[in-house]
Amino acid sequence: MKRILIVDGGPRRAMNTSALCDAFDEGARSASPEIGTARVRLYDLPPWKGCMSCLACKLRGRETGECALRDGLSDALRAANEADGIAVASPVYFGEWTAMTRAFLERLVFPWLHYTDFSVAAPKKKALAWIYSMNATAEHFAQFRRNIAMLEGALARGTGDADPAIVAAFTTAQTKDYSRYAMDGLDPAAHLAWREAHWEEDLAKARAAGRATAEKALAGV
Ligand SMILES: Cc1cc2nc3c(=O)[nH]c(=O)nc-3n(C[C@H](O)[C@H](O)[C@H](O)COP(=O)(O)O)c2cc1C
Repeated sequence: MKRILIVDGGPRRAMNTSALCDAFDEGARSASPEIGTARVRLYDLPPWKGCMSCLACKLRGRETGECALRDGLSDALRAANEADGIAVASPVYFGEWTAMTRAFLERLVFPWLHYTDFSVAAPKKKALAWIYSMNATAEHFAQFRRNIAMLEGALARGTGDADPAIVAAFTTAQTKDYSRYAMDGLDPAAHLAWREAHWEEDLAKARAAGRATAEKALAGV
């Protein structure tokens, strides 16, 4: 059995990012009965913190590649380290990941980083996928990718997956009822029309990415 962990770094249930995670999950499971998936919702975990810079993961001779801090994130980190594939999902907040996604990645990746030779290695190689949703259009996506390039690159090096699947949903509907909120500058009609035209396509891309990631996990990265 190969295990794929889907880490949902968005706060909202049943909205854009979580729906893309559902589709990714469905696609991954469709690849083979030998694929098992699990979901972690970072905002629903018991209290946890970002990296505390305790340097326990850098103690000479005790570099396990896993965060030593014990809190509400520990089980998720263990699952991520043991997984054969990992998908990290986040809405874009102020041109970056959500704070919780960022904090999760700090805790996951800092123990993978060796300050001796600056190599990055997860305890186990794995297939990697990214799932993003945002108000912005495809033209703004490149800027977002530049903002997150350091950690995105570290994940690719650490997992050994140099060509991760990337699902990006643009011009998302931030609410189903724009009339309730003062958000007119966003051009709600355009967002709703975009969703009508593109949302099924976005879900299909997430399903395809899930399947591709699972197939990669089965083949071994
Ligand atoms: C605090 C906050 C900051 C945001 N910043 C951005 C941004 O910089 N760029 C963008 O395209 N969308 C931004 N958005 C919009 C969300 O990324 C977008 O609506 C996303 O699809 C929401 O995902 P969800 O439906 O899963 O919550 C922001 C939303 C919030 C709540």
